[in-house]
Amino acid sequence: MSSAFVIRNAVRFGRRLLAGRTQFAFERPQSIGLEIDGPVGLYVHVPFCAQLCPYCPYDRIPYDRALADAFVESVGAEARQWAQRLPGRQVSSIYFGGGTPTILGPQLAQIAASLREAFAVSGPLCLETNPADLTPKKVRMLADLGVESISLGVQSFQQPLLQRLGRKYSPAQARRALEWLARERWAINVDLMFALPGQSMEDLDADLREALSCGAQQLTAYPLFTFPYSAVASHRALQGVQMPRLPTRRRMFRRVWDRSTAAGFAPVSVWSFMRPEGGHRYSSVTRRRFLGLGPSAASFDGRRYLLNTFSVPEYVRSVRERGHAVALSMPIEPRLERLYDFYWRLYDTYVPKTKPGASAVPGRRRIEALLDAGGLLGMLEQDASGYRLNRRGAFWIHVAQNYFFLSDVNTIWATALRDPWPARIAF
Ligand SMILES: C[S@@+](CC[C@H](N)C(=O)[O-])C[C@H]1O[C@@H](n2cnc3c(N)ncnc32)[C@H](O)[C@@H]1O
Ligand code: SF4
Repeated sequence: MSSAFVIRNAVRFGRRLLAGRTQFAFERPQSIGLEIDGPVGLYVHVPFCAQLCPYCPYDRIPYDRALADAFVESVGAEARQWAQRLPGRQVSSIYFGGGTPTILGPQLAQIAASLREAFAVSGPLCLETNPADLTPKKVRMLADLGVESISLGVQSFQQPLLQRLGRKYSPAQARRALEWLARERWAINVDLMFALPGQSMEDLDADLREALSCGAQQLTAYPLFTFPYSAVASHRALQGVQMPRLPTRRRMFRRVWDRSTAAGFAPVSVWSFMRPEGGHRYSSVTRRRFLGLGPSAASFDGRRYLLNTFSVPEYVRSVRERGHAVALSMPIEPRLERLYDFYWRLYDTYVPKTKPGASAVPGRRRIEALLDAGGLLGMLEQDASGYRLNRRGAFWIHVAQNYFFLSDVNTIWATALRDPWPARIAF
């Protein structure tokens, strides 16, 4: 029996058990309405980068001034269109993700102004960036914009690893960028990647030491995911270098967990650790209700999940012609919403216990049985109010993500990157 066969059937079994069906599909939407009364998290996807990293699975293209100008205008138009459809127009946070949002320079302020005009914005402004894209001038521009929280994609402080990943900056540049950010007193998150080809335990220790002592409030450490559609497998620098095997990945994950917690950082998601006095938590994943602007951005109102087209020129054209760029939609029934919510609680490492009577919600009893099983397997610790994921549990969530969810993300994203307006994507 091949491992692909075992995994395929395990996925089918898990889906049947928890979601009550084995197949899901995105389709072209008949209408694009979202039913959101309260505040939403706003996500703006900026798809431009100076260089494209070969391992990166996100929707990103090389920076092009003319396309960037059209993009900035379109985000404003898309925001105005959505604001008319959301009764309260309340926005509780703004995240600029990408891509490399800071590559837009002062045009970022133009987008922020359009958003503030279209919506009643009350929450923090957060964004992610790359050390190669920061200068003291840009940092001052971000301060004028009202940025409160920033994530710096350092990935590693080791020159050979940065080179192998195709990153175009030195460790010294990453350190300088961190110093500039620290002066602004923002909440800083540092992204590291681990389980990199050719990475030793000593490399990882050195990266953790530096990331945990650089003044950042939060550390996020991702194991390298290899999406078949990204160029990672054919990247010349990675050819002939062994990817770490599962036991090595486990040892590395344990090291990330142990060093972070020993340094006083507490787990706040399966990837992230935060100082107790850390303040605002950086998370590019908005969980409850969110509205996405820009190519490949997703929106969710609890009943429908919408995805914009992934093509930047098509995004611009569609917003000009129709005011929006929604390409795909999937209905989310209550049972699936419950599962979605459960997944994000687990991802956040804490699942509160259900209030009496809430077990009537479809699928809740199965989720509770799953939590009890997790407890018996030593992955969760229970207290009076909920279940806390421990190191072992967090590692198995990593593994589950790698084998189960990434193949779905791969199917959806690979199709959407190839075809701007797919008729249907089943997974
Ligand atoms: C959208 S990216 C990055 C922000 C910025 N453009 C940069 O490259 O620094 C967000 C984070 O995803 C992580 N990431 C990207 N590709 C990954 C992959 N294939 N596996 C694991 N993590 C990945 C990196 O840690 C990165 O900082
Ligand atoms: S990792 Fe960051 S800089 Fe590299 S291609 Fe992806 S979004 Fe762009």
